[in-house]
Amino acid sequence: MEFIHIPVLIDEALEYLCIKKGEIIFDCTVGEGGHGIEFLKRIGSEGYLVGIDLDSSVLKKAEERLSTVSTNFKLFRGNFKDISNIIIEIGLGKVDKVFADLGMSSFQLSEGDFGFSFKEDGPLDMRMDKYVKLTAEDVINKFSEKEIASILWEYGEERFSKLIAKKIVEIRKVRKINTTFELADIIVRIYPVHHRKIHPATKTFQALRIYVNDELNNLKLMLDKAPEILKIGGRIAVISYHSLEDRIIKNAFKSDQRLRVINKKVVKPGPVELKANRRARSAKMRVAELV
Ligand SMILES: C[S@@+](CC[C@H](N)C(=O)[O-])C[C@H]1O[C@@H](n2cnc3c(N)ncnc32)[C@H](O)[C@@H]1O
Repeated sequence: MEFIHIPVLIDEALEYLCIKKGEIIFDCTVGEGGHGIEFLKRIGSEGYLVGIDLDSSVLKKAEERLSTVSTNFKLFRGNFKDISNIIIEIGLGKVDKVFADLGMSSFQLSEGDFGFSFKEDGPLDMRMDKYVKLTAEDVINKFSEKEIASILWEYGEERFSKLIAKKIVEIRKVRKINTTFELADIIVRIYPVHHRKIHPATKTFQALRIYVNDELNNLKLMLDKAPEILKIGGRIAVISYHSLEDRIIKNAFKSDQRLRVINKKVVKPGPVELKANRRARSAKMRVAELV
């Protein structure tokens, strides 16, 4: 099996989490197991890794990858907002480390079927969890102009949110907007030329993905619950990829009396990693310890 996703900030995650032999690790976003396999190697035969993911298609890849190192792991489909219930369900008790690497994997991004990327043609779906009903296509074709504009502003900080929402509503009166290429094309055509440092559809796609997957609420719930499952002295590390998430993590760690912030300054990838992996360019990691 081919593994497309290159794990981000892997050396830094291992260093800041101080993973030792025999530890129990909870990987909230196991994905293709890129971080998970390194955790498994370090915890050895006495340790145990629990890995969850919303997307069952990536779990198959993780299973195959992790099995090459040991059998001391359990993977299953779940949402990290349910972290404390999951631990009770599997009867594990408290864990030594909690890790989350937010967003989507390169595999999901490259698969047109998810509809995450404006560079791949596919249905406007954007659900990581296929059991959720709402898709990006519903938002684009059924929500009011005001609702669309507010989603693009709130979750994408898109300064042309009103302009884009107006055009979407105008076009959908004539035809339904079904695909990623159709939506990206609408945005490209109307986006002011002097504001094209990044692809004009970037913020709209980010906003829709965050909204459809309720990403910010899931993150807040996970950050609130994670200290409940950590042992005293146990650590949590979270890697995020945009400022909305990073702000939530920073504030949650700072204001949580149960935690001590380990890195006052956010951890970012060094030049070697940035050169090797474009996806790492916006990554930020924050780490805290249960006191
Ligand atoms: C950046 S990838 C993780 C990659 C992984 N660390 C690796 O190196 O292979 C993020 C993963 O988190 C999953 N995910 C996103 N939100 C989630 C949630 N609320 N609960 C569980 N998994 C989630 C996505 O499906 C995706 O597979």
